[in-house]
Amino acid sequence: MKAPDFLATHAASVEAALTSMLALRQSVVTGILLEAMSYSVLAGGKRVRPGLLLETYRVCGGEDLQRVMPAALAIECIHTYSLIHDDLPCMDDDDLRRGNPTCHKKFDEATAILAGDALQALAFELVAGMDVDAELRCELMRSLALASGCQGMVGGQVLDMQAEFDAAAGKHMELLQVERIHLHKTGALLHWCCEAGARLAGADALQLDACSRYGKAVGLLFQIADDILDVTASSAELGKSAGKDAEQNKATYVSLLGLQRSRELADEMRDMALDACHPLAGEGVSLKSLAHYILGRGR
Ligand code: IPE
Ligand code: IPE
Ligand code: MG
Ligand code: MG
Ligand code: MG
Repeated sequence: MKAPDFLATHAASVEAALTSMLALRQSVVTGILLEAMSYSVLAGGKRVRPGLLLETYRVCGGEDLQRVMPAALAIECIHTYSLIHDDLPCMDDDDLRRGNPTCHKKFDEATAILAGDALQALAFELVAGMDVDAELRCELMRSLALASGCQGMVGGQVLDMQAEFDAAAGKHMELLQVERIHLHKTGALLHWCCEAGARLAGADALQLDACSRYGKAVGLLFQIADDILDVTASSAELGKSAGKDAEQNKATYVSLLGLQRSRELADEMRDMALDACHPLAGEGVSLKSLAHYILGRGR
C-alpha cells in the first residue's frame, strides 16, 4: 500500500529539516561522528513517527507546522538511534537497514554506539530549544524520556532480548507478554508522537484522549505489522533482512499465534485505532488512512 499523500508531504518537509539541522552542526561536531549520524538518519526511513506527530497536531487544530518541527525531528533522532543499537551484533545483529549496510557495518561498532548516543541527546536538545511555553516544553521532555527510556523503548528492548533467551530455553510465552514487549519497544514512541502532537496544538481533553487511544492502538499495530512483514516480505522489499525473527527465536505475534490469527488481531487493533478517531475534527480521516497504511504497508 502506498503512503497517503499527506504523509509523503510531511516526510518531505521532515527530510529537508533533518538535512539542514544536521548540516548546521558541521562546524561543531567531529567529522566521523556527524557522518555516522547523518548516514543513518538520512537513509530514507518512512518517517511515520514525525508524520504522526505533525498530523495529530494538524487534526487537533495546529497551524504552524514549522514551529513544532523540532519535536518531529527529535522523535526521528530517537527512533534512528534505537535502530542503530537494535542492529548491533550484541542485539539483533543485522547487516542491512533502510536498504544500506547498518551503521556498525559501514563504520565500526564503537562509532555506531556513539552515533546512537549522540542522536539520543540531540533529540532532547531539539525539544529543549522549541519556541513553545516552558511548561509544555518541560512536559514534552519528561514524556519523551519516559517513552524512550527504561519505562519505554529501552525497557521493551530488554524484554525482547529476555524473551529470546527464554524461547531458546524452551519456555512458553503468553500473548500478554508479547503485547507488553511490543507496547514498550515500539508502541511507546508512536504513542508519544500522537500525544505530543495533540499537546502542541493545545488539544482539549476529548481530543487528547482520542489521540492517546489512537496512538496506543497504532503503536501496537505497527509492531504486529512489522512481525508479519518479517515473514511475508523479502529483504529487498523491506530494506532490512527478512526472516530474522524466526531465526533468532523472537517473541512475535506470528511466532505465537501464526500468520492468520496475527492478521486478525492486527485488523482488530486497526479498528480500535479507527474507532478512537471519531471525536476528532472531520472524524480524523487522515489519521484513519494512516492506520490503514501502518497495517497495509509493504516495508
Ligand atoms: C522499524 O521502524 C523498527 C520498528 C519499530 C518495527 P520503521 O518501519 O518505522 O523503520 P523506518 O524508519 O521506516 O526505517
Ligand atoms: C525494533 O523491533 C524495535 C526497536 C526499538 C528498534 P525489531 O527488531 O523488530 O525492528 P527491525 O525489524 O529490526 O526493524
Ligand atoms: Mg529488535
Ligand atoms: Mg531488529
Ligand atoms: Mg522486526
